[in-house]
Amino acid sequence: MTQLHSPKHILVTGAAGFIGSNFVHYWVNMYPDNKIIALDALTYAGNRENISSLESQQNFHFVHADILDTDKIETLMQEYQIDTIVHFAAESHVDRSIHGPDAFLKTNIEGTHSLLKAAKKVWLDNDIESHRFHHVSTDEVYGTLKPDEPAFTEKHQYLPNSPYAASKASSDHIVRSYHHTYGLNTTISNCSNNYGPYQFPEKLIPLIIANCLDGKSLPIYGDGKQIRDWLYVDDHNRGIDLIIRNGEVDNTYNIGGNNEWTNIDIVNRVCELMDELVPLNSISHSPSPNSYKELITYVKDRLGHDRRYAIDATKIQSQLNFHPQETFETGIRKTVQWYLDNESWWRHIMDGSYRQWIEKNYD
Ligand code: NAD
Ligand code: DAU
Repeated sequence: MTQLHSPKHILVTGAAGFIGSNFVHYWVNMYPDNKIIALDALTYAGNRENISSLESQQNFHFVHADILDTDKIETLMQEYQIDTIVHFAAESHVDRSIHGPDAFLKTNIEGTHSLLKAAKKVWLDNDIESHRFHHVSTDEVYGTLKPDEPAFTEKHQYLPNSPYAASKASSDHIVRSYHHTYGLNTTISNCSNNYGPYQFPEKLIPLIIANCLDGKSLPIYGDGKQIRDWLYVDDHNRGIDLIIRNGEVDNTYNIGGNNEWTNIDIVNRVCELMDELVPLNSISHSPSPNSYKELITYVKDRLGHDRRYAIDATKIQSQLNFHPQETFETGIRKTVQWYLDNESWWRHIMDGSYRQWIEKNYD
């Protein structure tokens, strides 16, 4: 496969979030000769502890900054001779976007534009030809599918339904426009639902694990028959890696694992793993159920809830030879085990002591 770009100095935004932190771990391991600038505003979703083990490494540098600060981005790009931007930073939780869309429009649309402006100024105004701006987006921009409809291809119409999805769709269009208008070397990936370590426990899978351990109800929105297409987070990162190096500029690649599950089936599977790994007779819940499944509770549906997402990953498979390494069985077991082994990590986040940890260790 022809390599079209060779990153050396890479700026990763949202590097203390779920996928961003997994990405920088992956990248440091894969490309120890690269310099990584990991930028994050440390919103409620950003957790510096996710990447603290990398901070002693010479080729890794954390910067606490906001992507809306264009001047700061320009300065960093110049100072570290950045040749590649991988843009994860976003407000990412659909439920929060329903209750408060403003932050989503600000960060996801204006924040992405701020980065693009900095990239244009530093790269294009200085005739730096070897550069890449990779924008990490979502399958939610395509809207929702009926049960018998084919999965989303890159040619699917954009029909975003939530304020989150609409803000991501807008950012995709702005990225595209910076290639067509100014010639910025951009690529975009639209990925399905990720799962794995370091996911903030407001999202379905970590929330279910945490609630099982606390004997709390497991909330299922509506009838629980909504479908999501799940991909292990490092498979997403492998896909992004392939796109940055070998993907064609101005191209969009859908990334997915061909792994559709209804929400209720996912929750049942997590409960089965919990029954196996943390048998209920080993912890005390009152009243004590026989299986974690007894904690499942149907609750009011999410407003405008998309029924089904599914990714057709033919393009990235055939053009860039992308194949997920994790099966769902191995990935979900690994993920549940990670949350069991790292209980203090998610408890810190949930009880706010993570903030105290940051103050003590860094500020
Ligand atoms: P996340 O919420 O876990 O992390 C987002 C990170 O961005 C946090 O660390 C946060 O502090 C940081 N951030 C937010 N606003 C910022 C700002 N103004 N400046 C700098 N940093 C800021 O999200 P995630 O699940 O890791 O998602 C990362 C990206 O991947 C997002 O763009 C999301 O749309 C996309 N995506 C996510 C999934 C998924 O299943 N989680 C799937 C497809 C695409
Ligand atoms: O498809 C990619 C998207 O996946 C990303 O772009 C988003 O950033 C990411 O958050 C995720 O969005 P979802 O809304 O699909 O993920 P979430 O984990 O919030 O919910 C998964 C499904 O489970 C969804 O149908 C809603 C449902 N759900 C969620 C929660 C938190 C419940 O039934 N109960 C819950 O308590």
